[in-house]
Amino acid sequence: MSTPFVIAVDGPAAAGKGTLARRLARELGLPYLDTGLLYRATGRRALDMGADPADPVAAEAAARDLTPADFERPDLRGPAADAAASKVAAIPGVRAALLEFQRGFGARHGAVLDGRDIGTVVFPEARLKLFVTASPEVRAQRRHAELLAKGPAPSLDQVARDMADRDARDANRGVAPLRPAEDAKLLDTSELDAETVFQIALSWAVAAQKAT
Ligand code: CDP
Ligand code: CDP
Repeated sequence: MSTPFVIAVDGPAAAGKGTLARRLARELGLPYLDTGLLYRATGRRALDMGADPADPVAAEAAARDLTPADFERPDLRGPAADAAASKVAAIPGVRAALLEFQRGFGARHGAVLDGRDIGTVVFPEARLKLFVTASPEVRAQRRHAELLAKGPAPSLDQVARDMADRDARDANRGVAPLRPAEDAKLLDTSELDAETVFQIALSWAVAAQKAT
């Protein structure tokens, strides 16, 4: 049996991972998983328990007890969930609890998954690994524009500071830190629109499928 076709899309906040991964999945007829939602839902659950998201006992219980309803919540995006997600994500037991679901998701029919450690930990054998980046300024502007479109938003400076803190937590943690896999293709989207990024990535995906 041939191994399932998995595409890993990793990178820092607001680099354009989700926009690209969703479109690749649709184009190639593959399931799509936004793995950040697992960490966001875990962080929110820990907050609801009145716990500190950095507390391993509470965060691991929250990760183990996730239910489908946790992913339907309207408050999974925004500053509180951003910070809580990146705190629970630094806890090894939380990552272990979420690993099996992510592997199972991609293992059956193949998939496109986006996150921080898909190419390094979740699917080190993925047939295409993309590491999507953009400058910190561009990423803060993108996230700020998204928040403004939804309603009252923190200042651009505040968004940039929160994002820098989160990127630092993600890159410096001891377990599954944010970094490109050795065999990842780097895609700097700072000066590329989403369509151009998609066309570049699609050509790599088609080549990877043919190489199978
Ligand atoms: O998933 P991630 O946090 O990496 O980023 P995203 O949600 O895909 O993209 C963040 C924002 O940047 C969205 O509003 C996208 O429309 C926008 N974007 C862009 O302007 N240019 C790109 N090449 C990719 C995304
Ligand atoms: O959309 P954005 O890039 O801002 O964030 P996200 O992908 O929803 O991820 C939220 C947080 O979850 C990240 O800052 C990481 O701390 C964590 N995360 C992770 O550690 N590993 C993943 N595979 C996905 C997300």
